[in-house]
Amino acid sequence: MRHLIVLVAALTLGGCAAHSAAPPPAEDELYQALGGQSGIERIVEGLLINIADDERIVSHFVDADIDRLFEKLVEQICMESGGPCEYTGDSMEDSHAGMDITEGDFNALVENLIVAMTAEGVPVTSQNRLLHRLAPMRGSIIYR
Ligand code: HEM
Repeated sequence: MRHLIVLVAALTLGGCAAHSAAPPPAEDELYQALGGQSGIERIVEGLLINIADDERIVSHFVDADIDRLFEKLVEQICMESGGPCEYTGDSMEDSHAGMDITEGDFNALVENLIVAMTAEGVPVTSQNRLLHRLAPMRGSIIYR
């Protein structure tokens, strides 16, 4: 009898587990896929190095405060990927005002970001998820 009770309990518990839904993905899943804080710092460093080598867009950055840009980009990507950060920089409209950034410039920066993420071993699906989050900013950045 005791065995029967144990068996019924085991079946019931097992049944419940089988019926319960898979846990939802963690909110910071993308942040983790980017390598967390240190991974994002390496990606942004790589991005800035790639920009410095990119004659299509480097001229836009000659007067930029690169330390601040690094810090604000890390905050922004951390926040956009669900990490524990708050973006404290200026709006995209204000930061790119008067720069006359074209679609081609925008695409060039995105290419540099992809190269930096690939170098850090970020899976393509995660790369696409981050790009998807940044894409809506395009209208606030180009032709300002
Ligand atoms: C998804 C695309 C982009 C994102 C997410 C982005 C993000 C940012 C952020 C967070 C800042 C710092 C704002 C602050 O200082 O408070 C910034 C500044 C800047 N961005 Fe962008 N940006 C993008 C595209 C571009 C493009 C395409 C260019 C030019 C080719 C560009 C040129 C600059 C420059 C030169 C600054 C520095 C301004 C300064 O120090 O005075 N950005 N951007």
